[in-house]
Amino acid sequence: MIDFRDEVVYLLKDQIEFLSEDEIKLLVEVPPSYDMGDYAFPTFRLAKEQKKSPNIIAEELAGRFSGNDNFEKVESAGPYVNFFINKQKLIETVLNEIINKNNEYGSSNIGMGKTVIVEFSSPNIAKPFHIGHIRTTVIGNSLKKIYKFLGYNTISINHLGDYGTQFGMLISAYKKWGDKEIIESNPIQELLKLYVRFNTEADENPALKDEARYWFKELENKNPEAIELWQWIRDISLKEFNRVYNLLNIEFDSFAGESFYSDKMPRVIKELEEKELMQESNGAQIVDLEPYSMPPALIQKSDGSTLYTTRDIAAAIYRKEQYNFYKNIYVVASQQNLHFKSWIKVVELMGYDWAEDCIHVPFGMVSLEDGTLSTRKGRVVFLEDVLKKAIESTKEIIDERHPDLENKEEIAKQVGIGAVIFQELFNQRIKDYVFNWDRTLSFEGETGPYVQYTHARASSLLEKGEFDMNDKVQYSLLDNEEEINICRLLYNFPGVILDSCAKNEPYFITRHIVEIAKEFNKYYNSTSIIVEDEEIKKARLSLVYATKIVIKTGLALLGIEAPNKM
Ligand code: ARG
Repeated sequence: MIDFRDEVVYLLKDQIEFLSEDEIKLLVEVPPSYDMGDYAFPTFRLAKEQKKSPNIIAEELAGRFSGNDNFEKVESAGPYVNFFINKQKLIETVLNEIINKNNEYGSSNIGMGKTVIVEFSSPNIAKPFHIGHIRTTVIGNSLKKIYKFLGYNTISINHLGDYGTQFGMLISAYKKWGDKEIIESNPIQELLKLYVRFNTEADENPALKDEARYWFKELENKNPEAIELWQWIRDISLKEFNRVYNLLNIEFDSFAGESFYSDKMPRVIKELEEKELMQESNGAQIVDLEPYSMPPALIQKSDGSTLYTTRDIAAAIYRKEQYNFYKNIYVVASQQNLHFKSWIKVVELMGYDWAEDCIHVPFGMVSLEDGTLSTRKGRVVFLEDVLKKAIESTKEIIDERHPDLENKEEIAKQVGIGAVIFQELFNQRIKDYVFNWDRTLSFEGETGPYVQYTHARASSLLEKGEFDMNDKVQYSLLDNEEEINICRLLYNFPGVILDSCAKNEPYFITRHIVEIAKEFNKYYNSTSIIVEDEEIKKARLSLVYATKIVIKTGLALLGIEAPNKM
């Protein structure tokens, strides 16, 4: 595909001696609206160098670019030189490329030979998998897909919270009051009850806390009874979580959670000692981070047990040795900013220069309309319930609008789940947002169902018009404003994927495919696509086809399916 931005740079390079190609590339901008051209080159830099007015330089420069095939005109406007892409060239290059590459359009091999770890979801076992977990789960899954599409070797890791003092509490609580059958009938609720009861009673009876510490120590010492109970709790929790992952169509390459590092921590502790980074503080072992204006990193408690931080350090070292990652990404809430800054600092102090490749990708909070979420207050909204409700509500909408649709159950699932994921990935990650049912499930406006519906509309046009992608198309028959605007958006799609990868922001893709859907629907409403004239029909359908492909790829990168009918 012609890279028009590069073409602008080459043209300019021929006329400007003292700027390098890279310098020119950095200066080239995209103007705020199409009537100012597709690319603009500001002349301030040249003006300074040549001691001339920027407007005069722009005028002189623009005058030298006549008769270029790729640009229909080059004009100066004040201090800018504006380049207007040859629209026919644009349409032809982008549609040809999409039709040739199909589902691979927008992919790349920039990641070849590099491994990216994306750690996401990572719920705590024996605790509810609630709506708050949707963010890490969905953002992480999308990032993994984006990296993969760009050629990286990706590893998705679910760093389960399956270790720590709370398991001491659970084991003690179970031994006192637990009933296997009751728990297995409703694992998370029942384990949560035990946990809450233990905490309440321990407030009155501090001896219970010692007991919990004892059992966690026993777990670390591999006492068979402790291990067996812990394993059982882990298994039944994971079974619950997997139902949600199945609904969301998410798979992990590894479930190596915190417990996985239990035998890998002594080495870290030894290394920290050898590197003289450890200090004693009230009987505990810490790494002092005062010089970096951070509280100390807690490595080992006075009773010898290890902590969340210790396990993260051990995990990072293990991952580097095991996968030799290029990037090790953690999709974890912004509440843990300090935790990540702190342990990554410790890894850096240990002398590992790859510490800078450990990247915390934070995100804001999700709340429900009736107030914030709180596990502690017992106002837990299970993620599974939200997803099921989305499917149910979608089913009702389909029953109403399209009662004889084939495969209704499956499509309700694809659309309902898609709606929730889309909503989640619609905004910049760091923003807090309020989950809203009506907006999420609406077929109008900037929603998942709207984009999926546009895709289905394109599919049915292609079917009705009997589009054959091997047909020869006369692209010159596409020339109205909407056709060109759609092509511009399709043309920019690969760049949008690169940006979302560079910033770890799936929402760039979400926004872009919404724009494509809007522009396409405008076109659909203003232009008959299936017309008598075979050549015009073929040309228009080729645009419909390209739009369908790009929307489908965009949705796939977000982790959303694109049914052909809905
Ligand atoms: N299990 C933790 C929680 O639910 C999240 C784990 C994040 N990942 C990590 N490597 N620390 O808060």
